[in-house]
Amino acid sequence: MNKKVFIRTFGCQMNERDSEVIGGLLKKSGYQISATDKEADVIIFNTCSVRKHAEDRVWSLIGSYKGSKIIGLVGCMAQNYKEKAFERDANISFVVGPQDIDKIPEVLGKILETRGQSPKNGDSPLLLERKIWEADSSIRPEEIYHTGFYQDKNHAYVVISEGCSNFCSYCVVPYVRGPLRHRKSKDILAEIQGAIAQGITRVTLLGQNVNAYLDGKINFNKLLAQVNGLTGLKEFDFFTSHPKDANIDSFKAIRDLDKLVKRLHLPLQSGSDRILKLMNRGYLAKEYLELIDSYRKIVKGGLLTTDIIVGFPTETEKEFKETCNLVKETEFNAAYLFKYSSRPGTQAEKIAGDLSREEKEKRHKQILDLQRDISKKLRHKRSHEKK
Ligand code: SAH
Ligand code: SF4
Ligand code: F3S
Repeated sequence: MNKKVFIRTFGCQMNERDSEVIGGLLKKSGYQISATDKEADVIIFNTCSVRKHAEDRVWSLIGSYKGSKIIGLVGCMAQNYKEKAFERDANISFVVGPQDIDKIPEVLGKILETRGQSPKNGDSPLLLERKIWEADSSIRPEEIYHTGFYQDKNHAYVVISEGCSNFCSYCVVPYVRGPLRHRKSKDILAEIQGAIAQGITRVTLLGQNVNAYLDGKINFNKLLAQVNGLTGLKEFDFFTSHPKDANIDSFKAIRDLDKLVKRLHLPLQSGSDRILKLMNRGYLAKEYLELIDSYRKIVKGGLLTTDIIVGFPTETEKEFKETCNLVKETEFNAAYLFKYSSRPGTQAEKIAGDLSREEKEKRHKQILDLQRDISKKLRHKRSHEKK
């Protein structure tokens, strides 16, 4: 009988896409993908390690199953904890990191093979409680992107680059996702054409730092032009840009390519130069402002969104205000605002001067309120302009 697998996804769009990839591979190997955990024999948690809160939620959810299902931990937490995950929760049967997701059907096959067998003479019953972990690979086989399995009938996430080599001091992504690697442009285009053949008309190109894309002579802006030229595609966008690699050419592409959505997500992180330096972001607040100034001049009426972290270690009240002032001045259409969360193994973890929880919460609330008013005002303005 076909075993049923439920995949529960946490974290970023990259993980959303990875869950589809895993679903596609499992279907190809004869498993059924179920829509809820109730009827599933196997539950796969595809997880995120970017903040402690994200990890805590997953640990508590896994704890709530109490041996009734086969539990797999995959994604960024799998890479972060490796075999230590089994110590944390004995209910977990397998642990597979993001670079090894192609092995999940095989790993699951092995687990199911030994499950329910009674111990042979002399065997410890524990030997049959098989635990498998895979977190060693550095490359994903290209084929995994071509199973044709997408959750949405109209829209597809398409990975253009994996990993990240930027090492922003607070961030766990380079450690759990490995260094930046680029997919070949011909493979990316072939995948999109396959999606179009299934009726998909909208695409989001994904990478931790899409502007750094490079395949031989094809840079990010050339890739955008190639995607724009695909027959049958109606609309596309990309996610995420890094200010140190964003450039005027890509803003011109947003203006000129008819299928490219007029929107830019450009994470600022902080408005203080001292904090930006400690974060290893590679730009000054002034340079960020210049960039968005040219974006707005080139892409008239284009939307702008950002990410900000408050309460980075040693951030003073004055430096926090610098961020607030930049937020006021810039008027982002939306901002994702995060409280700094210390991540084991990162450079920022070693900086003495983590702020108290209360202080981080206070600053977080303050900037949330500020941005809420700005977003509201801008939405109001846009709806008037449309009338
Ligand atoms: N590669 C993307 C997204 C990375 S994670 C980028 O560079 O924009 C998404 C966001 O989570 C980041 O932009 C950052 O604002 C936030 N983030 C990352 N690590 C964090 C940490 N340790 N604590 C709080 N927020 C964090
Ligand atoms: Fe993390 Fe920085 Fe890479 Fe984004 S660019 S994934 S914040 S290290
Ligand atoms: Fe989280 Fe991994 Fe994405 S840490 S933000 S799921 S790359």
